[in-house]
Amino acid sequence: MSSHHNEIIQKDSSYGEAEIFPGTQGYAAAAKDLIPRYNAIPFASKYRTALHLLPQKPGLVLDVGAGTGADAAWFAARGHEVVAVEPTAAFRAAGKRLHSHLLIKWIDDGLPQLSTVVASGKRFDTLLLTAVWMHLDQGQRWSAMQTVAGLLCPAGILLMALRHGPVPIGRVMYEVSAKETIALANSAGLQLLLNTRTKSAQDMNHALAIEWTQLVFTPRAMIKKEWRGNSGCWPSAKTSPRPCGKMSSCSAGQKKPVPETALPLPPHR
Ligand SMILES: C[S@@+](CC[C@H](N)C(=O)[O-])C[C@H]1O[C@@H](n2cnc3c(N)ncnc32)[C@H](O)[C@@H]1O
Repeated sequence: MSSHHNEIIQKDSSYGEAEIFPGTQGYAAAAKDLIPRYNAIPFASKYRTALHLLPQKPGLVLDVGAGTGADAAWFAARGHEVVAVEPTAAFRAAGKRLHSHLLIKWIDDGLPQLSTVVASGKRFDTLLLTAVWMHLDQGQRWSAMQTVAGLLCPAGILLMALRHGPVPIGRVMYEVSAKETIALANSAGLQLLLNTRTKSAQDMNHALAIEWTQLVFTPRAMIKKEWRGNSGCWPSAKTSPRPCGKMSSCSAGQKKPVPETALPLPPHR
C-alpha cells in the first residue's frame, strides 16, 4: 500500500453510529438495482466531452460519491492512486468486490465537509464529483465548493457532472445549474475550463430526458490578495477554510507553471 493511502485515517463506524450524509437517502434501498447500472456505463462515454482535459501522468485522484468505483477503477488501471469516497455502505462493499485494486482506497465520508479526507491533509491532482452535486441544497453546495477547492493541487482539475431531470422516487435531489456552480467555483478560487451539456447516453435515462452538464475547473493561478509565494498554496481562511495540505501529494503540474515574473507581488511588499 502506498504512503498516500496509509495517511488517510479510516473512520470506523463499528464503534458508533455511522454519520448520515445529506443526499444519501434512498440509495441503500435501491443499491441492488443501481450497482449493475453504475458499473455498465463506459468511462469514455460518461466523460466524452472532458477526455482531453484528463491528466496524462498518474497522480492522486479523489472520487467523491464514487458509487461502485467504476471511475476509480479506470484511473487505478492507469496508475493513479485513488481515494474513493462513498457514504453508502452497499456501494462501498460492491466497489471493493468488483474493483479490488491496491491503488484504490475506499473511505466512508461525505460532502459537504469531507472531514476524513480533509483531516488527511492531502491535495489531489484530479477530483471527481460525478452525479453527486444535485444531492446538496444551496447552503451545502456553497460549503462543499469551499471544501473541494481546498483539496486541489495548484495544477489540479475538478470534474463535475451535474444531473438535470426528474428525481427518482425515494431520492433527495435539488435543481442545480451550470451558472450557479460556476459562480460558486469562481468564488472558491477556481476557473472554468469546460462547460458542456449533453443528453444522457444511458437508454433508461435518455428516455426520461435526463441531461448532464460537464464542468471542469482548475485553481486560478493567481489570487492577488491572498498570494503567499509561488508554492501554489493559499492558506488564508478567506479563500480556503483549511491550512495548506501536503503539497508533496501533488504530482508535477498538468498545466504549465506560471512564470515567476507573472506572479503578483505579495500585498505587503
Ligand atoms: C448517482 S450516484 C453516482 C455514483 C458515481 N459517481 C457514478 O458516476 O457512477 C450518486 C452517489 O453519490 C453518493 N452521495 C450521496 N450523497 C453524498 C454526499 N453527501 N457526499 C458524498 N457522496 C454522496 C451516493 O451514495 C451515490 O453513490
